[in-house]
Amino acid sequence: MESALTARDRVGVQDFVLLENYNSEATFIENLRRRFRENLIYTYIGSVLVSVNPYKELEIYSKQQMERYRGVSFYEISPHIYAISDNTYRAMRTERRDQCILISGESGAGKTEASKKILLYFAVTCPTNNHMVTLGDRLLQSNPVLEAFGNAKTLRNDNSSRFGKYMDIQFDFKGATMGGHILNYLLEKSRVVHQNHGERNFHIFYQLLDGGDDDLLNTLNLERNPHSYRYLVKGSCARVSSISDKNNWRVVRKALDVIGFTAEEVQKLLNIIASVLHLGNTLFGEGEEGETYIITETQLSNAAKLLGVDGSALKEALTHKKLTAKGEEMISPLNFEQAVSARDALAKAVYGRTFNWLVEKINQSLALKEEIYHSSKDASVIGLLDIYGFEVLQHNSFEQFCINYCNEKLQQLFIELTLRSEQEEYETEGIAWETVQYFDNKIICDLIEEKHKGIISILDEECLRPGETCDISFLEKLEDIVGGHPHFITHKLANGKTRRVMSREEFRLLHYAGEVNYNVNGFLDKNNDLLNRNLKEVMCQSENQILSHCFRREEVIDQKRPEMAASQFKNSLMKLMEILMSKEPSYVRCIKPNDTKQPGRFDEVLVRHQVKYLGLMENLRVRRAGFAYRRRFEAFLQRYKPLCPETWPNWNGKLADGVSALVNHLGYKPEEYKLGRSKIFIRFPKTLFATEDALEAKKPEIALTLQKSWRGYRERANYQRIRHAVIVIQSGWRGMKARRRAKRRREAAQLIRRFIKGFICRHEEYCDDNDYFLDHVRCSFLKHLRKNLPRSVLDKSWPTPPALLVEASEHLQMLHMRNMVIKYCRRVQPEWKKQMMQKVVASEIFKDQKGSYPHSVGRLFLDTRLEREQISLKVLQTLGSEKVQYGVAVIKYDRRGFKPRPRQLLLTNSFAVLVDRTKIKQRLDYAALRGVSVSSLCDGMVVLHMPWEDNKQKGDAVLHCSHVIELVTKLAMMASKTNYVNINPGCIRFGVSRTKEGIIDFVRGSELKVAKGKRGHLLVTAPQISAT
Ligand SMILES: Nc1ncnc2c1ncn2[C@@H]1O[C@H](COP(=O)(O)OP(=O)(O)OP(=O)(O)O)[C@@H](O)[C@H]1O
Ligand SMILES: [Mg+2]
Repeated sequence: MESALTARDRVGVQDFVLLENYNSEATFIENLRRRFRENLIYTYIGSVLVSVNPYKELEIYSKQQMERYRGVSFYEISPHIYAISDNTYRAMRTERRDQCILISGESGAGKTEASKKILLYFAVTCPTNNHMVTLGDRLLQSNPVLEAFGNAKTLRNDNSSRFGKYMDIQFDFKGATMGGHILNYLLEKSRVVHQNHGERNFHIFYQLLDGGDDDLLNTLNLERNPHSYRYLVKGSCARVSSISDKNNWRVVRKALDVIGFTAEEVQKLLNIIASVLHLGNTLFGEGEEGETYIITETQLSNAAKLLGVDGSALKEALTHKKLTAKGEEMISPLNFEQAVSARDALAKAVYGRTFNWLVEKINQSLALKEEIYHSSKDASVIGLLDIYGFEVLQHNSFEQFCINYCNEKLQQLFIELTLRSEQEEYETEGIAWETVQYFDNKIICDLIEEKHKGIISILDEECLRPGETCDISFLEKLEDIVGGHPHFITHKLANGKTRRVMSREEFRLLHYAGEVNYNVNGFLDKNNDLLNRNLKEVMCQSENQILSHCFRREEVIDQKRPEMAASQFKNSLMKLMEILMSKEPSYVRCIKPNDTKQPGRFDEVLVRHQVKYLGLMENLRVRRAGFAYRRRFEAFLQRYKPLCPETWPNWNGKLADGVSALVNHLGYKPEEYKLGRSKIFIRFPKTLFATEDALEAKKPEIALTLQKSWRGYRERANYQRIRHAVIVIQSGWRGMKARRRAKRRREAAQLIRRFIKGFICRHEEYCDDNDYFLDHVRCSFLKHLRKNLPRSVLDKSWPTPPALLVEASEHLQMLHMRNMVIKYCRRVQPEWKKQMMQKVVASEIFKDQKGSYPHSVGRLFLDTRLEREQISLKVLQTLGSEKVQYGVAVIKYDRRGFKPRPRQLLLTNSFAVLVDRTKIKQRLDYAALRGVSVSSLCDGMVVLHMPWEDNKQKGDAVLHCSHVIELVTKLAMMASKTNYVNINPGCIRFGVSRTKEGIIDFVRGSELKVAKGKRGHLLVTAPQISAT
């Protein structure tokens, strides 16, 4: 139909609505058959799912399949039970309305399987949390347990549900499962004591015997062979090849644990199951006087033990009944038949009530936990109804009557909600159309359930009526009251032909699904569902907690008659209808393809019958009567809008106008469609197919557009993301920077403030107010000082210290100077040191005293001015060991005539000698030296004053030397007589002889001149010499 379906999916039509020849049942069945042949077991009629039992495992229930259907529109994919499930789930979530899925069909058509698939779909695909995982498990595991206790092999179905089941699955507002609740309807209890040929008792009996281990069976006093138990062999087929009781036992045991049964509860439960088997084997004998006794004491005591009741009390209760007449209690013995039926009634009651307890227990385990319950105001529910299908057996009894009545009710509901609502839809949409006739089974429902006049009322009345009543009297009453009803026939009322196939104990109902003959035998008993009072009393005292819970003491005390079984069933059905009516229904109509449970066999007669009674043709006709197809405007527009430029990509006007524009563009003819108030109705499938084909053809173009937009969107989104990230980073970074700057500013302001405050208080004691400023002043002075330290000892500069550092500064200056001096001294060479020392001495002697001194400062003193070769060898020999330390050429002036004579002046360590070429003329001992005189001018005159007392001396020596500073310095140093050097500004007096004194006058002149002056003085004219 729509979207990309595979070729296989397109076998036949996947929605019957699209059948051209929709009136033909043959076409309908042919479509079913074609699809069935291809294992396409699902087909829609609009929103109703028709499912044909494949009787084989198909590969269509995998997890991948579930994912395929998840969130996909109903029509876009091949029909499937998952599509219905998903659609229901989504409707529940989007519309917030409770939903229900009604699964109907006859026995063996696949209802239970369908319900399990739906449950599994929810369990797998719905969101979960830890609690929900357990809950999902419990929901799923409730199935094998209920099936073991409530299902049995019948002729129609190896796993036939013998009870009705309605399950509510509760979802929270997020769509996660959060609870469940099961309602069970009328278990076919009679099966416990009797089975038709080819049928079995409930599975659990066989599972226990086959699967239970030896110990377990021993404790239950059971034998493994089912044929040992009378209740299990009535149908003569205790073993069935298609059923593995052993495996199923394992599954059930595990499921009981998952659901939360304790080991003790399981034991108690199995005790009850075993007790039923022992009860079944309890046989009665008949005494000569008609009294009844038990012949199988062991079986009875086993049963009593397992039931947890007193053996003799049970024995008594099985063979006697208690009557109350006129306020007095009487005990009367039971005859053989009565005892047998009392035993069977007990077995049925025990099993039936235990089954109810089981459901109750499962409900407790599925119940919403308290805290979830309170937070689940928005919870929604999906109901799942899997109830026994319409059943026609060889012999139909009370159970079949109830089952078929239930199916009538469900059909009623289907008619109400589907056929009628369909027709109402045309009305509400304002579409003119002709009403389709369909069979309304209300008449049959009324026949059964009407108050006072209905079959159930008549049955109840007959049960309650005083006097002799029996099943036949009930039949007669029926004939009296409903005899004229068109859907009711008895042997008496029937025509000849029918009479032949009806017994006198039967009545026939013409059900919507077919005719069924009911045998009235046992109707009253089963409706009464009575258990002798004394049996009830015994059971009340049971030590088995399950039984004491099931058999309440109040029941014995309460004299009020309990409700009859049929009424009870009717009332519970009414309630069920109410529940279902309050929900949005979806339908699964199951069809059984053959009676032999064979895969691949399609029995046309059987299918036609089901198609008929399920009302599928009417369903289809109503769907198609006016129009084969309808869609809400928005859905139609949404799907096909790409086909019209006006509506693509978006239509902004009214929906109806958009659809109009679209169909006009597509060229729909007026007779092909109608526009309702909110839906478009398309008359012929081919119109829709053509539209669909056009959409298929358009899809590549749409895909391209979508691709483009998607890529654009993705890139834009990516860009936006990056941009956003950049902005975030930027703002973060900027923020951080600004904060840092602000912090710095704040700190700077504080600093400045502190600085100013410090400046103001700079003269105060060192305190908090001025510490920073003062530290800063100190620090900056020290830093400044570091960069401006004098680099040489001669550099006397020193930065001016702030007031508070004067002392420290002086200290530092001194240290620095010392340091420089030390460093300088370390660098000085010995000869240089000698030079320095001489220069220092020269400075001490001459500085600021003698005019020629500054001139000498820059000139180095030499070690000697005379080379060794210049000194006469003879002189040197004369000097002997005394080494000449210094020699210089001098001019000696005679003391008297001042005649100049060139001489060499040689200094040794202890004396000086004046040498005239090879001859020492005069020896001057340092020790005797009285003094040395020089002028303050720039001349080379030097007078060496000799002692007078020494006769050998010839008086003071008047010398002229070009290196007078050097000479005098060395002489003074060698003689250690630096203090003996006199510097005379104007004249020098010298001793000519002991008594006579000579004078040397010094005057300034342009050049050096030494001559005899006036008054016999020696006149020395000294030139001016600049310091450089
Ligand atoms: N979808 C399916 N796939 C495979 N087998 C199926 C399917 N549906 C049903 N069956 C087979 O058919 C049998 C009967 O199905 P199921 O028990 O669901 O019938 P039912 O309608 O519940 O009958 P009843 O009314 O007797 O309970 C199953 O045991 C199973 O073997
Ligand atoms: Mg079933």
